[in-house]
Amino acid sequence: MATHDIELTVNETEVELTVDSRTLLVHALRDELGYTGPKVGCESSKCGACTVELDGDAVKSCTVLAVQTDGASVQTVEGFADEDGELHPIQEQFSAEHGLQCGYCTPGMVTTTKHLLESNPDPSREEIRKALKGNICRCTGYQNVVDAVESAAAALAPAESEGESASGDDVDLRTDYPTPGED
Ligand code: FES
Ligand code: FES
Repeated sequence: MATHDIELTVNETEVELTVDSRTLLVHALRDELGYTGPKVGCESSKCGACTVELDGDAVKSCTVLAVQTDGASVQTVEGFADEDGELHPIQEQFSAEHGLQCGYCTPGMVTTTKHLLESNPDPSREEIRKALKGNICRCTGYQNVVDAVESAAAALAPAESEGESASGDDVDLRTDYPTPGED
């Protein structure tokens, strides 16, 4: 079996590894690099548990060969929290809305949701269901997942008008900035 040396960026860390021609990205991430957020469910592009961001797209990492990702940038769910460990708002809302039970599907759900909200920040429930149709959950019945995505969209929404915070509370706007050229 031929092997290949590849370099990629995972969660903003550059890594080098040697992979077999047949190694799937999900196995390289989990078994070689220790990123176990992406889960192995069906290994045939049906369940979405292995979804990661690959160069900005939500991709099922069981459908990609690791060697194909040479030079690419990958983000797994481990990279969604900020550097202080503060969860991403989507993760917080999946927790708050009980959008998970066993949690096996959740990394893929969260990743697909992130991609959805980046392109459509205010999706309808129908659009949420359509976006998540490639992510199978056998526990939640999806209702709470859709609730979680709606809540995440609200949490991520910018203030509707200047001077209004995302929470709806007014914020003070400073208006006494000095004018250039005037004392
Ligand atoms: S493990 Fe990749 S889609 Fe199921
Ligand atoms: S929470 Fe168990 S499969 Fe979705």
